[in-house]
Amino acid sequence: MLTILEFPDPRLRTKAKPVAVFDKALHTLIDAMFATMYAAPGIGLAATQVNVHQQLLVLDVSEEKNAPLVLINPKIVERDGVQVYQEGCLSVPGIFADVERAERIVVEAADRDGKPVRIEADGLLAVCIQHEMDHLVGKLFVDYLSPLKRELVRKKLEKAHREAG
Ligand code: NI
Repeated sequence: MLTILEFPDPRLRTKAKPVAVFDKALHTLIDAMFATMYAAPGIGLAATQVNVHQQLLVLDVSEEKNAPLVLINPKIVERDGVQVYQEGCLSVPGIFADVERAERIVVEAADRDGKPVRIEADGLLAVCIQHEMDHLVGKLFVDYLSPLKRELVRKKLEKAHREAG
C-alpha cells in the first residue's frame, strides 16, 4: 500500500510532469495505486496524492468495483454543462462539500501501455476525472470553498493529525 498525503501537506501542491516512459515500473505503480484506492476505499486516486509527481490517475466509479480506468497525461478537449456534486477526497478525510464542475467532458489520454484513448464522461465519472485532474496541477477540492471554510477544514485536519500523533 502507498501512503496517501493529506491536506495541508505542501507536496499536494506539486505540479505533475507528463509520463514519458511506459515501462514495468509504471505498471507496478499503477497496480499499487489501484490497491491503495480500493483499500481506502475510494473511487479515484491521482499520483500526486501518493507523492509521485507524474500525470497519472486511476479511477473506478462502478458499484461493483470492476471498472478500473487508468488515465495518463489526460487532457480535457471538450466540456459542456454544469453539475454540482458533494465531493470528498482521500487527501481530505472526513470532509465533504458541494463543488460545481462540467456535466460532460471528453478526455484524451494514454492508457497504461501508452496507447491513446478518448473517453466521453458525464455524471459521477466526469466529476471524478475533473477532481483527479485537479490533483495533477496541485489543486484540491477545498480550493473551491470560501477561504473561511477552507481554514476551518485545515484546522480540523491539523487537530486530527495531532491527535493521531
Ligand atoms: Ni482527491
